Amino acid sequence: MKERGTLYGVGVGPGDPELLSLKAVRILNQVPVIFAAHSSKNNYSLAKEIISPHVPPSTPVVRLDFPMTRSKEELECAWKRNADSILDRLNRGEDAAFVTLGDPMIYSTFGYIMRTIRSAAPDVSIEIVPGISSYQAAAAASGSILAEAEGSFTVISGAMGARKLKEVIDAADSIVMLKVYKNYREILEALEELELKEDSVLVSRCGLEGERIVQSLRGPNGDRPPYLTTLIVRKGRLTK
Ligand SMILES: C[S@@+](CC[C@H](N)C(=O)[O-])C[C@H]1O[C@@H](n2cnc3c(N)ncnc32)[C@H](O)[C@@H]1O
Repeated sequence: MKERGTLYGVGVGPGDPELLSLKAVRILNQVPVIFAAHSSKNNYSLAKEIISPHVPPSTPVVRLDFPMTRSKEELECAWKRNADSILDRLNRGEDAAFVTLGDPMIYSTFGYIMRTIRSAAPDVSIEIVPGISSYQAAAAASGSILAEAEGSFTVISGAMGARKLKEVIDAADSIVMLKVYKNYREILEALEELELKEDSVLVSRCGLEGERIVQSLRGPNGDRPPYLTTLIVRKGRLTK
């Protein structure tokens, strides 16, 4: 047996179980244990649901709780506790996978876990299997071209409101915004101010039951969308 196992950070895509890579499926079938992040508020992990058609029912999927909080202290405590649970398995010589929605390197809990594990065990072996990100699936589902020729697109978070959008809008041809749900009203107002509502596409629950695509945000549609919502702003150029 190996002295220490390898941790695989596996991106499982944004929802459709057919959007897992062959490599992801191979690794998930080969590891003896899989870890999946849960919000401590509920008992649900979308990443766990996505992989369920692909993994043997006998493989344990261990729940790791992450609090939905901005408290750095609480978060660091959860990263440490969860990193220790993973390290415990690796130190027994077992490989393990940590599954994450979309891609592990884009707005993912995996980044925090990877850093925490690395600081406790700098020589641990970690391999990352990329996943299809939510914004790639949202662009495909809505037929939105993100970049062509010399164009550029910028990925931002709406978690802190519309400030970032206003900062980057002049420099990019299209913008992708994740985490839009909480500050949706403010973001909508900023799009109105920038005269970009018509050029905006909202994709909710992409690839999942209840998928919704709103092609233009003209009109009064200020209802807060679900957590799994991605906004694409095309600045009128790429599709016309
Ligand atoms: C914590 S981030 C995870 C991003 C993920 N690592 C990725 O690569 O897409 C969560 C945000 O991703 C976006 N998202 C994830 N899955 C989605 C889906 N199925 N449909 C639309 N947006 C989604 C939403 O903006 C959501 O608020």
